[in-house]
Formats: sequence, C-alpha cells, structure tokens
Amino acid sequence: MSKLQNRRILLGVTGGIAAYKAAEFLRVCQTLGAKVRVVMTPAATEFVTPLTFQALSGMPVHTKLLDAEQEAGMGHISLARWADVIIVAPASADFVARLASGMANDLLSTVVLASTKKLMLAPAMNQVMYTDEKTQQNLAKLAELGATILGPDAGLQACGDVGFGRMLEPEALAEEIMNYFHTGELAGLKVLLTAGPTREAIDPVRYISNHSSGKMGYSVAQACVEAGATVTLVSGPVQIEPPSGVETLDVVSAEDMFETVMARSKEADIFIAAAAVADYTPLNVESHKVKKNKSEIQLNLSKTKDILQKVAGLPAAPFCVGFAAETENVEEYARVKLDKKKLDMVAANLVGVEDSGFNSDNNALTVLWSNGRAELGSKPKSALAKELVTLIAKRFYEKNSV
Ligand SMILES: Cc1cc2nc3c(=O)[nH]c(=O)nc-3n(C[C@H](O)[C@H](O)[C@H](O)COP(=O)(O)O)c2cc1C
Repeated sequence: MSKLQNRRILLGVTGGIAAYKAAEFLRVCQTLGAKVRVVMTPAATEFVTPLTFQALSGMPVHTKLLDAEQEAGMGHISLARWADVIIVAPASADFVARLASGMANDLLSTVVLASTKKLMLAPAMNQVMYTDEKTQQNLAKLAELGATILGPDAGLQACGDVGFGRMLEPEALAEEIMNYFHTGELAGLKVLLTAGPTREAIDPVRYISNHSSGKMGYSVAQACVEAGATVTLVSGPVQIEPPSGVETLDVVSAEDMFETVMARSKEADIFIAAAAVADYTPLNVESHKVKKNKSEIQLNLSKTKDILQKVAGLPAAPFCVGFAAETENVEEYARVKLDKKKLDMVAANLVGVEDSGFNSDNNALTVLWSNGRAELGSKPKSALAKELVTLIAKRFYEKNSV
C-alpha cells in the first residue's frame, strides 16, 4: 500500500509565483495514493487556472466562499471535515497574515478556521517579505497555535533576489505529510476494526438488531488513523459518515462481518472488535413476509460465530481488543471475557444508562488487561477513543518487546 493511501489532503493554493509548483505537488500526492481536493484563493487563480487543478485532481476546484452552488455541493464546513490534513502551498505573506489574525474573508481562510485538522503551511515569497518582522511574527504565532511551517528554502528567487523564501520542492512537501502520518503512536501498524450493529434477517422485511450507533467504533477508527495507523473498518449498518482516511467495508449480518473480518485478519497487527454483533440469528430466514394470522409465533435462533474469539485463536493472532457492553457487573463480566477469549485487552462499558453507551455521544470505559486496569472517565467518545488508543499502543509495544 502506498504511503499516503486513502489519506485526504486538502490543498490550499494562494496567490504567489510558486502556485505552479502546487500542480506538481498534487501529482506527487496522487502518485502516493492520496485523495486531493483543491481550494484556491481568488489571487491564486490569477497565477494558475482552476482548470489545471481540476484536470489533475479529477475533482471540482473550490474558489468562492459566497457561492450558493458550491455551498450546495461541498461547502466550507464539509471541506473542513473531509480533510485529514490541510496544506497551503504556496502560502503567501498576505494569507499568513490573514490566518494569524483569525480572518475568514475567503473560502480557504474560512475552511482553515473551521477545521480542527492538522494545518501545514509552505510559505513562498520574496526574501524581504519573508524576513520582515511582521511575517515572522505571523508565522511564529501560527506555529504556536499548532500549524507546521514547512520551509521555506533559500536560493535564487523568481524576482532575482537570493535568500530565504523559496517554497519547498513538491517531493519534500509530500515527505513532510508522510512523516506526519507516520510518527503517531500506531505509526506503520495495520488496524482492523469492527463497529456498529449487525442485522439478522427474519424475513425479507424484518430483522433483529440492537441500539449500537457505531459512534464509539468510528471514533476509535478515527483516533487510530490520527495515531498513524492504516485502518480497515468493517461496519454494520449505521447512520454516521465513515471516518476520513479509513478503508470502510460495509456488512449487514453477523455472518457477513465474520467472513469479511476473517478475510482481512491475517494482515492486521491489531484487531479491535467494537461492533455489537448479534449473538443469535434466526435459524431459518422466511422467503416471504411472515403474515399476521397467528396469535403467537416462535422464532428459533441459532448462535452466531464468535468473531473475536476466532481471531484471537488464530496461530499468529493480532493484538486483540474486545469491547464489553453490559447492563450490570461490568468489570466482572469483562474480566471473564478477557480470560475466556484470551484477549489482550477489553474495554468495558455500562449500557442502558442515560447519556452513556449505545447511541450517546459520551461514554466511560473500564479498560482491563491481564495484569492491569485503567478507568477512562465519562467524556465525549472522540476524546475517550484517543485515550484508549494510547493504552492500546502502550500495551501493544509492551507485548511485542518481550
Ligand atoms: C507577479 C506577482 C507575484 C507575486 N508573488 C508573490 C509571492 O510569491 N508570495 C507572496 O506572498 N505574494 C506574492 N504576490 C502578492 C500576492 O499575490 C498578494 O499579496 C495577494 O493579495 C495574495 O492573495 P492571497 O493570499 O489571497 O492568495 C505577488 C504578486 C504579484 C503581482
């Protein structure tokens, strides 16, 4: 798999001479497997046409903020959410100044302000503009706020000056993005993850399922990507958007999920079973809708395959993390699950209570492993997922270093 496979890069292009190099940068990212969308400032369109970027990316190029048509398609908030990383290359002195002062007066600055994703800036400008104290202060402020400033290089400039201000070469910029994705706690590891409920058909219109929303599993998938892992998510039917940067495989029933997981389990370093898989499935699926002509009917159920147990029992099993959702005796049942299935870790949560567990945006987890435990107190699932991933990474490396 290429180093930027499935990574979503939002490329911002501003009005500078180096705008032409952004086209080459886009090509490099695509060759490495990334999906790239382009937002240009109005000034940038004076240097290179949006058509160039559209032809290269195969995607519409976004240039206007106050454009009803663009907002109806992929508007500024959707663009901000779509990206795994935003890189502005070249970043003009003017754009840097606007960002540093929190302005949102064009589409690109608005997208950046509306995003919590990693921001990288590749300044490119005349050496006097670059060394000017105001530009330096603006860059320092943005760096302090979490942006990564890439370059610039020194050398001969388009204006004939010699000094700092040349944009880094496209390959060097791509390298920086690869480093970003490969320095996290799970850098270079492959994570296979299940999430959501399963649906067990009774007849062509009815099924048995549960209240799992998939939010916890999706948050863990997102946190794994942010920690540098390559993530494959096997998901039951849910109403939420797949996390960005994740390969998502949709399944419906417990049997589908079993088949899909087993087909991918051999390549995984870590397996996280966050799905609420049905324990039982109808023995026979009626071929026609069951009629309402009896006062009582019986549904015979058979046990489904235990996906987690099967993966944990593989000869070269990945590091296995289970989730236990219980309505009582949470820790006790979770410890039994850990031992019985020979898991590396179990994240247990209480369900059936208000504002926690299934369908809620919050959760609390008790995480157990053979000789330890950790309490992750009630918080949004996204924050909880990050803490859980840190624990998983720590235990994974402890296990694999002995
Ligand atoms: C020919 C020409 C080249 C320019 N090159 C640069 C440049 O390399 N870097 C820069 O910061 N500004 C450069 N500028 C100035 C910017 O285009 C100007 O500040 C503009 O407002 C930037 O808008 P934007 O940041 O919204 O894209 C140049 C202007 C002209 C006319």
